[in-house]
Amino acid sequence: MSTRPDAASVLGYDRVVTTPPAFDTDPARLGQSFPADFTWGFAASAYQIEGAAAEDGRGPSIWDTFARQPGTIADGSTGDVACDHYHRYPQDVGLIADLGARAYRFSVSWSRILPVGTGSINQPGLDFYERLVDSLLGAGIRPMINLFHWDLPQALQDRGGFANPEVVGWFTDYAALLASRLGDRVTDWMTLNEPAVFAFLGHADGIHAPGLRDWPTAIRVADNELRAHAAATVAIRAQVRDARVGVAFDVNQVAPATDSDQDRLAADQWSSARDAWFLDPLFGRGYPALGLDVHRQAGHLDGVDLTEPPAGDLDYLGLNYYRRDSVSAKSDRAFDWEIGAVPGSEQTQMDWHVAPDGLRDTLIDLHRTYAPREMVITENGAAYPDTVDQAGDVRDADRVAYLARHVAAAAEAIRAGVPLTGYYVWSLLDNYEWSLGYSRRFGLVHVDFDSLRRTPKDSARWYQRLIARA
Ligand code: FCB
Repeated sequence: MSTRPDAASVLGYDRVVTTPPAFDTDPARLGQSFPADFTWGFAASAYQIEGAAAEDGRGPSIWDTFARQPGTIADGSTGDVACDHYHRYPQDVGLIADLGARAYRFSVSWSRILPVGTGSINQPGLDFYERLVDSLLGAGIRPMINLFHWDLPQALQDRGGFANPEVVGWFTDYAALLASRLGDRVTDWMTLNEPAVFAFLGHADGIHAPGLRDWPTAIRVADNELRAHAAATVAIRAQVRDARVGVAFDVNQVAPATDSDQDRLAADQWSSARDAWFLDPLFGRGYPALGLDVHRQAGHLDGVDLTEPPAGDLDYLGLNYYRRDSVSAKSDRAFDWEIGAVPGSEQTQMDWHVAPDGLRDTLIDLHRTYAPREMVITENGAAYPDTVDQAGDVRDADRVAYLARHVAAAAEAIRAGVPLTGYYVWSLLDNYEWSLGYSRRFGLVHVDFDSLRRTPKDSARWYQRLIARA
């Protein structure tokens, strides 16, 4: 494997910090704020960690194709090897167990199971997930299966991908197959991870696979994702007694950059055109009026025949939360907005604005607006340019500070009445961060991408003590 450039050199890291207020990082004290049966877990996804991209009959996915196109990935890398989790999963399950986590959220590579997306089953691919589930259960860790973390089989993209309404049937068959094979042991299911990122970054902005830049296509994809979610949920429930089915949305806090009327309107429009665009239909309200208005103004609905997608029937709403996005209007035109961190704010290596109060407020807002039966933080975490020091330690105090404040914010939301039952850290291992390749480390366990050696960071020990309340 080639030596990859280190984190800081790929895209400059400029950590701008205003001094954060004092906060408590004591894991024992923080742990006491949660009920004893609270689910503490780790989250990961197939393409980002598995590697073994062409092994045991796995078919190519759109990420295999996209990552090979010149200029798409910051460090020119692919997920061909990634963390080699496909071969090293026993060690990784051992790490999760050692850290005391009670649950592990992973995604299934669709093209490992069904190399061309439909039709004939690749038994060795299915066997891998059987082994993974069994070893998790053997270690006392509850598996949560996410069916789709963006790595659509390339063969299905060749047939129009998620823009083709037939995807609802393809996805439902795939969901039913997995539920029939693993549903005797797995009760926690997730249909889709971050449908907005997949639809918009992959089909309108072109910075994720499949790399398209066409808004009407992105809108069709979003619509089909909602339909696929609803149909797959029915299929899972038909196979799995006591199934708990949910979906994970990335809802970061959206705030106007200033108090101006223009910025306030832009923030409302963006939040409606992006977050409510999915959540309103999911909770049976149809597409939001403001979002419809701005998408229409911007020409995103040209040639699109939108009807109401069915509601979602969720046992839990998954929230992936990382940051505050501030919105400023560049003009009066819809989508002519600047979205990002406020200059001078505390930021992670992703240039994401660290805003734990935004987690508390987003949980409270979602609960107030949609009243989901249950909520789970299905991702939260931070990238920093970690290195292993001479003593063999990774002193990631920045990440501990990030996690401690977000965990405290989650506790505040529970005190405010939010039915929050779990928290999954993104991520167990440093991994392939999509178009940023291996240049962003989100793991609580460091991975040397040459030797593939795993080294728990200080944050891993901190999380272990939080879970153990010790
Ligand atoms: C989320 C993705 C996950 C990872 C984190 C940092 O948007 O779901 O795969 O990339 O961000």
